[in-house]
Parts: sequence; structure tokens; C-alpha cells
Amino acid sequence: MHSLDGKKIVVASHNEGKLREFADLMGPFGFEAKSAKAYGLPEPDETGTTFEENAYIKAFAAAKATGLPALSDDSGLCVDALDGAPGVYTANWAETADGTRDFGMAMQRTEVALQEVGAAEPGRRTGRFVAVICLAFPDGEAEYYRGEAEGTLVWPPRGELGFGYDPVFLPNGFDKTFGEMSAEQKHGWKPGQPEALSHRARAFQKFARARLGSA
Ligand code: IMP
Repeated sequence: MHSLDGKKIVVASHNEGKLREFADLMGPFGFEAKSAKAYGLPEPDETGTTFEENAYIKAFAAAKATGLPALSDDSGLCVDALDGAPGVYTANWAETADGTRDFGMAMQRTEVALQEVGAAEPGRRTGRFVAVICLAFPDGEAEYYRGEAEGTLVWPPRGELGFGYDPVFLPNGFDKTFGEMSAEQKHGWKPGQPEALSHRARAFQKFARARLGSA
């Protein structure tokens, strides 16, 4: 197994929301964590059909290009009444004709799909955010850490915080959507603390325990 002793890692993402969250999560571990964007790397096409495949494509591309270990996250929202959609296509649902991303439109599209299947009651609007973190090395060796956060889809969207689909996701046991939560509430986690809330923080927690010697 390769080591991370060099304390240098590439965060294989161009997504500003994810990069902010990774910077918070990596903070306590004393790593130099530079993003693939900061290295000027192109965004690889996500041609996989699973979170694991797409996480590997991103992490391996960054590791190969930089010669450093790379950490990526492939994530998405899986809605039960939509047979797990948008799932690995969560970012694609936000794509507009001019190639930009519009998450207001993506949330609306999810809502229209829920209405089409008659999912009005909260009990029929359940789903989860999934994040798979891949740690890949320049020679192609890779490992995976998965985190999930269960919740309910609400409409209309609530809150201006976070990113992506946060305003329509109400995590189980809370009365605030991810879009109404501070960064600390959504993904704050420090070594030694009990379980984090968000899917990404939960996946990161597994990675930190396995690889960073965290409690
Ligand atoms: P990908 O991992 O680059 O394929 O993109 C995943 C997409 O899922 C993002 O563009 C977001 O729209 C959505 N997503 C993933 N994690 C979160 C989250 O924590 N909050 C809101 N949306 C998220």
C-alpha cells in the first residue's frame, strides 16, 4: 500500500462547493491540498455508470498528470421514487444549452419528476446524498470510501447556503435543509468527534480513519 507521508495531495475537483468542503475537512491534517483546477488540469469526462467509476476517472487523471496522490469525490442525489435518479447524473441534470450549470433548474426538474410519479407526501419523497471518495496513485492503485446521508426532498427550495441541490434536501432528524445549514453544521467534523452529517464528511471520515490515523 502506498503511503501519504509526503503530505501532498491533489484534490481532483473543479467544483467550488466541493473544494471548499474538502479544504475544511483536510484542514486539521496538515496536508498541502491543491486542487486539480489550481494545477490547470482539464476536467476529465465522467463516462462511468457508478460513483466509484467516476471517482476513479477523476482521481487517476489528476494523480497521473501530477505524479502525486489524488483524492476525488463523485457524488449525487438518489431519489427513491425516481428509481435512484438523478444518481450519477446529478450534475448533468443541471446542464443548460449553453454548457453552464443551473441548479435552480436541476432542482425544478427533480420536483417535476416527483410530481409526475405523484410523490406528494414526505414519505414518498425520500432519498439520499451519496459521496464516493477515491484515493488514487500515479501507478493506478486506488481505494474507495463511501458516505451517505438520508433525507427527504422538500419543495420549494429553502436556504441560500451550500451548493448544488442543498436547498431541497432535508436530512433525517433535522428541521433545516442543507441549504439552511452553516458549513459547520453540514459537514463540520474534527478528528475524534462522533459521526458527521453530510455524505462527503462521512466518506471523508472513513478515509481519515483508514489513512490519516484519525480517531
Ligand atoms: P459530480 O460528483 O461532479 O458528478 O457532481 C455531483 C453533483 O451532485 C454536484 O454537481 C451537485 O449538484 C450534487 N451534489 C453533490 N454533493 C452535494 C452536496 O453536498 N450538496 C448539494 N449538491 C451536491
